[in-house]
Amino acid sequence: MSEEKRLISALRGKAHDVPPMWLMRQAGRYLPEYRELRSKARSFLDFCYTPSMAAEVTLQPVRRFHFDAAILFSDILVIPDAMGQTVSFETGEGPRLDPIETPEGVDRLGVFDAEKLSPVFETIDRVKSALPSDVAFIGFCGAPWTVASYMIAGKGTPDQAPARLFAFRHRDAFQKLIDRLVEASVDYLIRQIDAGVETVQIFDSWAGVLPANEFESWCAAPITRMVAALKEKRPGTPVIAFVRGADAQLPGLTRRLGADGYGLDTALDAKWAVAETASSVCLQGNLDPLALIAGGDALDREVDAILAAFAGRPHIFNLGHGILPQTPIDNVERLIARVRRA
Ligand code: CP3
Repeated sequence: MSEEKRLISALRGKAHDVPPMWLMRQAGRYLPEYRELRSKARSFLDFCYTPSMAAEVTLQPVRRFHFDAAILFSDILVIPDAMGQTVSFETGEGPRLDPIETPEGVDRLGVFDAEKLSPVFETIDRVKSALPSDVAFIGFCGAPWTVASYMIAGKGTPDQAPARLFAFRHRDAFQKLIDRLVEASVDYLIRQIDAGVETVQIFDSWAGVLPANEFESWCAAPITRMVAALKEKRPGTPVIAFVRGADAQLPGLTRRLGADGYGLDTALDAKWAVAETASSVCLQGNLDPLALIAGGDALDREVDAILAAFAGRPHIFNLGHGILPQTPIDNVERLIARVRRA
């Protein structure tokens, strides 16, 4: 039997001397080879749904940097697309959806049509056969709250106010939407696993804007249900939860969600997180993407502090949020050399 991949063994509780590493949004606009291929696609969604292109950009950062994992190139908004909501990406403006403004809007959504996402599963198949044998393959989806927040606002907003307001005003309809997203997301992740990903990350990028009661209803409870369903149906596949903005809730989440790894966002104090969570829990993170843009001594200092904070426990080195388009590639190389002490 081949040796377990470093990222997977970290998720199963192994502390590595040199942590496995990958970067959120590692396939993206900071890479010239990404920008070149992206310019050939008609739209961002076409790019995601063309397996030859999506597989190629998934592999680009692994080829260039030898990361310990590839993450499927897709987007969290393919789920609303597969529920029949109109989704598009305007260059420079981010996602645009036909917003859900009333409870009837929730009822009008179609059933989740996994067939529509068959190009994603074909992308996984292609990447799987091209991936070096020591590189893990990560699938993903958005968490119900984060996806719902885009479905209701129809675009990115600074604080997801439209979805928060909708949830206060129309609690039953919002619960229905969340329930439908739990079901669709579990179905989607299981299909990703069956197509060949080895672990899955659930991105709750907007968890941090919710007051405590709402956090419980729309973030903690739905993700707990998702992880339980995945553990029941695909028990061998580790799950990573990235609950951005969880702050003081993190220790409770690690006791309750049932995930194998927990992504820490930039603002969390790594030393505190280490002290407040069981030593068997794998923590992932949490370099500030801006330190990666700054580079130099500031980058080295931050990297060293993170490595010191997580030393001796299962840890996956990552950013605290996605890499930014203006990130210099030299700084990514400096980061990797520092983490790997090369
Ligand atoms: O990590 C990876 O390399 C895999 C690919 C990936 C993308 N989006 C590609 C993408 C992943 C994991 C995502 C997740 C995602 N998408 C999240 C959760 C993580 C996070 O960053 O908080 C969210 C909230 C989205 C929704 C989304 N997609 C937004 C808000 C935007 C516009 C912002 C931007 O950066 O332009 C996107 C577009 C998008 N998704 C791009 C990429 C590479 C940029 C579009 C382009 O290349 O033209």
